[in-house]
Amino acid sequence: INTKIFENSFSASKAVAKEIATLIKAKQKTNDHCILGLATGSTPKGLYAELVRMHKEDGLSFKNVISFNLDEYYPMEPDSIHSYVRFMKELLFDQIDILPSNCHIPDGTLTKKQISKYCAEYEQKIESLGGIDLQILGIGGNGHIGFNEAGSLQNSKTRLVALDHITRVAASKDFSGLSNTPRTAITIGVKQIMEAKRVILMAWGEGKSNIIAASAEGEVTNKVPASFLQEHDNVVFVIDKAAAKKLT
Ligand code: F6R
Repeated sequence: INTKIFENSFSASKAVAKEIATLIKAKQKTNDHCILGLATGSTPKGLYAELVRMHKEDGLSFKNVISFNLDEYYPMEPDSIHSYVRFMKELLFDQIDILPSNCHIPDGTLTKKQISKYCAEYEQKIESLGGIDLQILGIGGNGHIGFNEAGSLQNSKTRLVALDHITRVAASKDFSGLSNTPRTAITIGVKQIMEAKRVILMAWGEGKSNIIAASAEGEVTNKVPASFLQEHDNVVFVIDKAAAKKLT
């Protein structure tokens, strides 16, 4: 896998923001929408801060951007402090000029019965717009992308999933304890991620170094869903020095 190693997450995030800005502007020139796939979690925070800065200081407009987030906990109310809706609004959407109607995040308030139809429609919306131009990903310490945990198939679709114990433990610090941490989430599938025209996976810190090596250089296996990206023809792992430590 193509990897770009940066001194730190700050310079790496700046480089990713620059690529996004370049794409948005190229699409503006041809009057096209720019379809972005977005992630939450700690990894993209610096990226979103830089995009906000570019909007405020450099006049970068997001009016032609349509975004689709990877995932949301289920069940989850949008105004909960734990929701990815709230995360995206606070860190990005409310600070730029993207149209709220152009921002899509899986709905954590559906009834169980509504989920499968909703997921199919989420995918259809992406497809009807011509697919994701650029997908931003983080990676779980266990190799998940989105919330496609170990065992997810390469052609898995948007769906309700059970979160791995290790994913819940990682999230439990935000939810003040494991018993308050959701057990399930709605995630776009590996299939949608693989269909994105370009994928940028970001990872920072030594804690991610083993899984970065396994994903980039190990066997392609559904035990490590990020390893499927080895079969994507336009992917880059943007990582800091610490996360690159175990690469050969
Ligand atoms: C978030 C997501 C997850 C995270 C991953 C890493 O939308 O889909 O796959 O990217 O769990 O989380 P952080 O960045 O907090 O280490």
